[in-house]
Amino acid sequence: MGIPFERLGWLFVRYGHRVYPGWARPALEDWLQPLAPGSRVLDLGGGTGVLTAWALESRPDLEFTVVDVAPGMMAHAPKPAGRLVARAEELPLASGSVAAVMIGEALHHFKDSRRALAEVARVLNPAGRLWIYDFDPTRGVGRWVYWGERLAGEPASFYRPARLARELEKLGFVSEYRCRKGQYVLTASRQV
Ligand SMILES: C[S@@+](CC[C@H](N)C(=O)[O-])C[C@H]1O[C@@H](n2cnc3c(N)ncnc32)[C@H](O)[C@@H]1O
Repeated sequence: MGIPFERLGWLFVRYGHRVYPGWARPALEDWLQPLAPGSRVLDLGGGTGVLTAWALESRPDLEFTVVDVAPGMMAHAPKPAGRLVARAEELPLASGSVAAVMIGEALHHFKDSRRALAEVARVLNPAGRLWIYDFDPTRGVGRWVYWGERLAGEPASFYRPARLARELEKLGFVSEYRCRKGQYVLTASRQV
């Protein structure tokens, strides 16, 4: 059981952006600002590349790669972006080879989210930056999403934002987050 993402690219390419509140896109654009031209950015669990499409509009000078287990989702990703079929828990990328990672509405789908976060920490360079959008399973719309995904047989491994920040702290990151009605954006960078 579980959501058959491989066959749902057509749906996500049309409606995937609606999962994000209006304030998420400007938050993503602000977060992208400090990155140097040519920086490598991963859209992890990127699916049809909703985040990559937004990011490309404000930063076409960055090098984006959509990473996902479902080629049927990535078939719809914007053309300039690279595509990599891989599990977030086992990224076939060199340590320190990436400047930034975006994870939109995907962390809770990973079977082993803790291992995926450790992989993110490994592939990010020392100045690496992380952007995560997800649901707080105890608040607002997050409660409904949590139960919906449990019924659908998904891992539903949701973090409350404060808990995710603590998890990331163990990996050497300092986080900030903004949560509204059960939807949050967390950004993190390494402690210096
Ligand atoms: C709800 S979709 C979100 C897609 C996209 N980020 C967006 O905002 O529309 C979740 C995605 O996570 C992918 N996924 C699930 N488990 C994964 C894993 N272990 N590693 C990488 N991607 C995974 C799915 O194939 C799917 O494309």
